[in-house]
Amino acid sequence: MTTTLETPGASTTLPSAGQPGGTPAAGAAAGAAAARSAGASGVRHLVSITDLDRDGMLGIFHLADAFKEVAERPIPRVPALRGKTVATLFFEASTRTRLSFEAAAKRLSADVMSFSASSSSLEKGESLRDTVETIDAMGVDAMIVRHKSSGVPSQVRAWTKASVVNGGDGQHEHPTQALLDCYTIREALLDRTPAGETPPEDLRGMRIAIVGDVRHSRVARSDVLAMTALGAEVVLVGPRTLLPPSLDGWPVKATPDFDGVLDSLDVVYLLRIQRERAQAALLPSMEEYHERFGLTRERAARLDERVLVMHPGPMNRGVEIAPEAADLPSSLITRQVKNGVLIRMAVLFHLLGAGGPLPAGAFGGTESGGGADA
Ligand code: CP
Repeated sequence: MTTTLETPGASTTLPSAGQPGGTPAAGAAAGAAAARSAGASGVRHLVSITDLDRDGMLGIFHLADAFKEVAERPIPRVPALRGKTVATLFFEASTRTRLSFEAAAKRLSADVMSFSASSSSLEKGESLRDTVETIDAMGVDAMIVRHKSSGVPSQVRAWTKASVVNGGDGQHEHPTQALLDCYTIREALLDRTPAGETPPEDLRGMRIAIVGDVRHSRVARSDVLAMTALGAEVVLVGPRTLLPPSLDGWPVKATPDFDGVLDSLDVVYLLRIQRERAQAALLPSMEEYHERFGLTRERAARLDERVLVMHPGPMNRGVEIAPEAADLPSSLITRQVKNGVLIRMAVLFHLLGAGGPLPAGAFGGTESGGGADA
């Protein structure tokens, strides 16, 4: 039995109830989430993780589960978004987010347009608005936007008919990072579930420490919102200068005492430390930071082998994380990157697909109509 979603020009089979990660509600959940994130024009966006509620996030995870099977094919490509165009508009450096969105779009058979600020007419003085409107005029269905200023992806929605996805904006949010982080934790829990037992649907019961420069981190903001919506308990750890000045509205606790919470954790999530924070006197030296707030070799040795270690990348080995800790068997850092492609496939399909029920057998087909894609 299959649960199906609809997308124009392609058919897509999702796992059904009884299959790992599948529920009959998957399509409905994704559809509900789509409605929640739709603007007045009906175009769907993902600017904040709050554009998805708990069921919306689970709907994305079920789609990612379905795409996992596609990723394992010799030619990992399906025609789900054939005829669609995805533009990546990165005004700030990126390795993971940009490449995984581009890989995700290609695996769904979308065309990809890649904009790079440093080689664009921005260098000749063209404005952000004119740049966006120029790309919109070429006909794109989705824009993935990264910018150093908070709020730019939200503003871009007003300048385009395309769906806008926030690829990380200033100190605001990085919603697809939060989705892939939660999906990766959930996947690790599924892997540990004994045969015959029901796997957990969300992150209930997990105690997660987010450690580092929480105050300036868009990843921390989106992760707190996503993890707590999925039932996890989150504690923020860092020097007081790098913790939020107020926790009003944040369903979390905060402490500067990493060692005090270390033994109670299920997940240690390290954030990247930017060297300019030390220059701004928000931090002691990098060496002292590593001793007090890093996942040092000694702290890593204290961790139970079931405690998961995560980092969004890029890592500063030897600052927030000791090289040995990054390479522990319980480290999910490479899995986070791998799952990033699946999650971004799910997000693009969710935003650009029709969102309703679709004919069965959809992912059974390929661009060439069956078997492997050429
Ligand atoms: N995690 C993350 O956003 O990495 P990039 O800056 O390489 O995209």
